[in-house]
Amino acid sequence: MIAEKYLKIDFPKITESRGNLTFIEGTKHIPFAIKRVYYLYDVPSGATRGGHAHKSLWELMIALSGSFDVVLDNGKEKKKFFLNRPHYGLLLPPGVWRELENFSSNSVALALASEIYIEDDYIRDYKVFKKMVDNGEFKNFSKKKVT
Ligand code: TYD
Repeated sequence: MIAEKYLKIDFPKITESRGNLTFIEGTKHIPFAIKRVYYLYDVPSGATRGGHAHKSLWELMIALSGSFDVVLDNGKEKKKFFLNRPHYGLLLPPGVWRELENFSSNSVALALASEIYIEDDYIRDYKVFKKMVDNGEFKNFSKKKVT
């Protein structure tokens, strides 16, 4: 698995008596320009989201409210990350299968993405994903940008 230190990002946090403020600038705090934002909310307890990998899309997930787990799988090993702080993000590079689970009630999962929505960039079949990993199709991404 890509080293954890590259995946976990702690964003600036301005703490004041009026409350906290966190900001994220594309290409500065995260290794891509932000082209799309989406969020998951009203997720019923026990529901699982994700269940796919991307060919070239980079994403960053944040638990804006509440908490949830993100299980990352690079086709060789799996690692579970618990997200529960709005100033903490998890980077999801291309070629990583992700499952989001264990959502707390009223949780909001914010995703920042490097591309607009392109269904063709999704790999939704785990067997296809595994084959691509075994063929070394994702090696360049992790070498170039993350490790
Ligand atoms: P899906 O990728 O299954 O959601 P998740 O990975 O979060 O579990 O997407 C659910 C539906 O929403 C699917 O029909 C595609 C659509 N969708 C968009 O139209 N635009 C988007 O930016 C995203 C993320 C999904």
